[in-house]
Amino acid sequence: MPAMRLSLIAAALALVVSASLSHAQSQPPAALTGTVSSSKDGLMEGVVVSVRKADSTITISVPTDDKGRFSFPASKLTPGQYVLSIRAVGYDLEGPKSADVAAGQTASVEIKLAPTKNLAKQMSNAEWFVSFPGDDQQKKALLNCVSCHNLDRIVRSQYDGDQFVDIFHRMVGYYPGSTPEHPQRLVGNAQRTLGQGPGMKKVADYLATINLSQETWSYPLKTLPRLTGRSNRVIVTEYSLPRRLIQPHDVVLDADGMVWFTHFAEQFLGKMDPKTGQVWQFPIPVLKPGYPVGTLDLGIDKAGDLWIGMMYQSGVARFNRKTETFQTWSIPTEWQNDATQSGHLDPSSTHIDGKVWVKNSNGSQILRLDPATGQWESVGSFSDPASGKRLGVYGIRADSNNNLYLLDFQSSTIGLIDAKTKQFAAYRGQIANSRPRRGVVDAQDRLWYAEYAGNAIGMFDPKTKQISEWVLPTPWGQPYDVVVDRNGEAWTGSMMSDRVSRLNPKTGDFVEYQLPKTTNIRRVFVDNSTTPVTFWVGSNHGASIIKLEPLD
Ligand code: HEC
Repeated sequence: MPAMRLSLIAAALALVVSASLSHAQSQPPAALTGTVSSSKDGLMEGVVVSVRKADSTITISVPTDDKGRFSFPASKLTPGQYVLSIRAVGYDLEGPKSADVAAGQTASVEIKLAPTKNLAKQMSNAEWFVSFPGDDQQKKALLNCVSCHNLDRIVRSQYDGDQFVDIFHRMVGYYPGSTPEHPQRLVGNAQRTLGQGPGMKKVADYLATINLSQETWSYPLKTLPRLTGRSNRVIVTEYSLPRRLIQPHDVVLDADGMVWFTHFAEQFLGKMDPKTGQVWQFPIPVLKPGYPVGTLDLGIDKAGDLWIGMMYQSGVARFNRKTETFQTWSIPTEWQNDATQSGHLDPSSTHIDGKVWVKNSNGSQILRLDPATGQWESVGSFSDPASGKRLGVYGIRADSNNNLYLLDFQSSTIGLIDAKTKQFAAYRGQIANSRPRRGVVDAQDRLWYAEYAGNAIGMFDPKTKQISEWVLPTPWGQPYDVVVDRNGEAWTGSMMSDRVSRLNPKTGDFVEYQLPKTTNIRRVFVDNSTTPVTFWVGSNHGASIIKLEPLD
């Protein structure tokens, strides 16, 4: 039976080949390797090493392992000279500051770090929060102060309590996508709620204890430990956007692998080719001249069209990717005033009943648009039956039947509207005042969501009507949004620590990844077409788009 023997040999050969292939996969050829050490610590784990060609917009980063080693795969670096940089709080790069990569060879560098000369400059918002004196409740009042600028403005100011009251009154009049480099004022009396009211003076007085109203900070600066183990098995690619003022708030990939993003402070939709980093900007029509511009939620409907929440422009836009044209719908004028704000929408189940859910933040009014007829319907606002308090809705998400989840940013409540009967039910998590912010609905119609003040991931299961919650390992992460990958793992990103967290809900284990720069992460996205999955996010304050590829 020679044929049989041959096939046995073939099978044995195939085994050998696949064994050596999997070995090759775990150790891809490296373009650049090395170690990171300091004279104080020796070899250092969890230092993020970044390289960029001088004329390139793309930066690649890898962290060091427990032996202080790092390795950039040859697939990520073309030959040429690279600028080196590092992130390890408390340390500056002593040298070398560049490395040459040659074709077909592995370059090697021994990177030396020295204690930083300016620790305050390196501190993340999370590290400031860890350092501040006072209790968690006092600190949590500042969670309204980290979306437009980092804490630098506050901790380096010299204001006393009374002056901080004036600052509060100024801050509430800024459009949410304002930055000090590009502020936009709200129109009329469309002030936002950032904690003004009876408790404001107390918060203002507290702020005067953490800034430079005395000669120096009255408290020691504490830093977070660097990440270890599996956290350091990752490659991060950062694509710089063409202008510093671009704030990529929501980043999603379409079915062809193109990256799309909304811009929080200008009126265009962005597109990026992840192969080249090339960026296109499609101007979105202005619906309400004189009002702030900028967009937030970015949804994809079943046909593959993109939907955009137009914030103070008080409407929604649909973008056809083939014709590259927009169609827009304004909220009816009888429901509009200066505070009308349509940042959130969900077209993902519109094919079920023809309706797109939209939220008007002013009064948390829930709307439905029928794009075929242009008809709008006001479904109203909703109160938590337990407390009688009206929900202050942040994110909205549709399930597979186009029922709508509401996330209450002012308590621990999530609600569910039945699309057919408009019946409403509310559910509460265990963490008090966790402030559910944004999230995603999985294939079992479960809602996964970020608990901004709870520093946690929540999950509501409509079958059991139970909420499960997992607190992030790093304190003061303050996640904004959650996404679930095809393996059932949940991912979130921090507005405060530049860390990405990956949860295995079966074991409750988290893996956290350190990003190389200041980001202020908002919407999170996972590309399930790769193995392992790829995580994407916009650096809302860093004018870049970030791709995070875990190695396992
Ligand atoms: C909606 C956006 C936004 C939010 C939220 C925000 N700020 Fe600001 N902040 C700005 C802008 C824009 C500037 C720069 C222009 C200015 O000073 O008015 C600024 C500047 C500052 C400054 C420096 C002012 C100076 O004169 O040097 C301080 C201090 C400050 N903010 C404190 C706060 C505090 C405290 C909070 C939370 C209650 C907060 N900010 C929330 C937008 C915001």
